[in-house]
Amino acid sequence: MSLILGIETSCDECSVSLVRHSPERLQVLGLATFSQIDIHRPFGGVVPEIASRNHLETINPMIEEALRQAAVGYTEIDAVAVTNRPGLVGALLVGVSAAKAIAYTLHKPLVPVHHLEGHIASLFLDRPDGPLKDSDLPMLVAVVSGGHTQLHLMNERPEDWRETFLRDSLIGRSRDDAAGEAFDKTAKLLGFPYPGGVWIDRTARGGNPAAFAFTRALPQKATLDFSFSGLKTAVSLEIKRLTAQGELENRLVDLCASIQEAIIDSLWIKIRLAIERFGCRSLGIVGGVAANSRLRAKLAAECPVPVLFPDSRYCTDNGAMIAAAGAYRLAQGRALQRNPLLALNAMASTEY
Ligand code: KG4
Ligand code: ZN
Repeated sequence: MSLILGIETSCDECSVSLVRHSPERLQVLGLATFSQIDIHRPFGGVVPEIASRNHLETINPMIEEALRQAAVGYTEIDAVAVTNRPGLVGALLVGVSAAKAIAYTLHKPLVPVHHLEGHIASLFLDRPDGPLKDSDLPMLVAVVSGGHTQLHLMNERPEDWRETFLRDSLIGRSRDDAAGEAFDKTAKLLGFPYPGGVWIDRTARGGNPAAFAFTRALPQKATLDFSFSGLKTAVSLEIKRLTAQGELENRLVDLCASIQEAIIDSLWIKIRLAIERFGCRSLGIVGGVAANSRLRAKLAAECPVPVLFPDSRYCTDNGAMIAAAGAYRLAQGRALQRNPLLALNAMASTEY
């Protein structure tokens, strides 16, 4: 049994969590998150410099709050896990510096975590039915967030992930915008506040998803890659046409339903293809877009294998998923100790 402090500051959420890892489960004992969404909203997107300055102000209160909820003192922590890549480098540095200070002062190991490995590990937090079974493998994991859209083929349980797991398991990715970005950019064209995914989801309810025929990019079966940038152009042209006709307001619900259908259907086409091609026995969906109601309905109706979603608290960026990924690495002895931990750096790039 070990107690892991997880720290996430890669973008606009400052989040800290205390997770207890045992062979049976990953239990979240405390989770404190400060979301900067309201701060960035007037700018229509995340402003990196504002994000890092705000993390500086909120990181210590979040650490204190997570420990308070868990009723755990600093000296009881067994290891610190922190997102050190990829993300906004100034924002990442705040979390990395805090994690280094705590680990070094307490003489504890430090585990650097790739943000996407954290998202995938979020599937295994607080699972009432225990750890993943071999009979669930191979599992297809779709990472669908504001920054990434990727398919990973998971052949081993997370306890057995190798150092190169993320790179080895990658079977498809977006060649341009991420699915969440496609929601956010088209929502912005329609005048919705940032982040727009949830607004499109809400407005689309009751709309006709076939009212506007947006093409699905990369339809060929040879690739499991995605492309969403063309949709933005198509939507922008449609908005101009409807505005010129004075019809935009009347058709807004149908337009949102059609945009949502184009994004979700594009995801589903490749997910289904990957499940068939690799004989996957389960599907995991992680990241902010996992909250989308149309995606959930489509998977419930059409997916041939059981679908796992993280609890909604763990879909958007959070410290618990970082602690979870860190716990698996710690158990394999892959943590930094003493002087090497001081050399840990933040990396903006998405390289694994
Ligand atoms: O995983 P996340 O919190 O942050 C990143 O690591 O990117 O994902 C945020 C993304 C945003 O693009 C947001 O618009 C999208 O998730 N999102 C949704 C919904 N809720 C959040 N997209 C579609 N439907 C939703 N209900
Ligand atoms: Zn994320």
